[in-house]
Amino acid sequence: MELKTAVKERRSIRSFKSDPVPESVVSEIITEARWSPSWGNTQSWEIYVVTGETLKKFKEANRAKITSLAPSTTEIPTPQNWPEALKKRYVGVGKSVLGSLQIAREDKQARMDYTADMFSLFGAPCLLLFCFDSSLSVGYAMLDTGLIVQTICLLAQDRGLGTCALAASITYPDLLRELLPIPADRTIAVGVALGYPDPDAAINRFERERAAVSEFVTWVK
Ligand SMILES: Cc1cc2nc3c(=O)[nH]c(=O)nc-3n(C[C@H](O)[C@H](O)[C@H](O)COP(=O)(O)O)c2cc1C
Repeated sequence: MELKTAVKERRSIRSFKSDPVPESVVSEIITEARWSPSWGNTQSWEIYVVTGETLKKFKEANRAKITSLAPSTTEIPTPQNWPEALKKRYVGVGKSVLGSLQIAREDKQARMDYTADMFSLFGAPCLLLFCFDSSLSVGYAMLDTGLIVQTICLLAQDRGLGTCALAASITYPDLLRELLPIPADRTIAVGVALGYPDPDAAINRFERERAAVSEFVTWVK
C-alpha cells in the first residue's frame, strides 16, 4: 500500500471481527515499528500484547466498571476543558459516531450500551498497551509513544488490519495492573485496539472531518 493511501485510509475502527490476529503478524508490525523516532533514541515505549483469556477478562471488568459509572483513575492527566474550536470537533466526532448507529442523543440507554461496547474494545481480539518508565517526563514519553502508535497503526493498515487508539482502555489502570505484569514504576500511557475491521459496519464508514490547513498552519518567510 502506498504510504499516502495508508495515511488517508487509516481511520479509527469501532467494530472488529472476532478473527484473531496471528501472533506472527503482530510481531512483524512491532518489529518494523521499532524504527519510529524517539527522544535521543531512548525508545521509551514498552508494549504489552494482550489477547486470549486475559483480554476477555479485561474487557468484562472494564465494561462492568463503566456501566457502574466508576470515576476514571487514568494515569495520564485528561483535559476537562477544551478551547472552543477543539470542543466543537470533539462533539462532532461523538455526533458522527452516534449518528452512524442511529442513536438519538436523548436515548441514554443506547448511549450507555455504545459506551459499554467501547470499554469492551469494540470486540477487538487484541489490545496493544503502551507504558513507559514513570521517572520520564510525561510530555516527551507521550510524544515517543504517539510516534510509535501511529507507525503501528499505519503498518496495521498496510496489512488490512484496523486499529483504534482508546483512552477507554486505560481509564481504570488497576484492572490492567491486576491482569498484566506491569511494574509499579511504569505509567500506562494508552491502549490500541487491533483486529480485522468489520467492513460493513456503518460506524467504520462515516465521513470524517479535518480542519483546513489554513486554520492551523502559519507560514513564515
Ligand atoms: C490518545 C487517543 C485516545 C483515543 N481514545 C478514544 C476512545 O476512548 N474512544 C474512541 O472511540 N476513540 C478514541 N480515539 C480515536 C479518536 O476519536 C480519533 O482518532 C479521531 O476522532 C480521529 O478520527 P480517525 O482516527 O478515524 O481519523 C482516541 C484517539 C487518540 C489519539
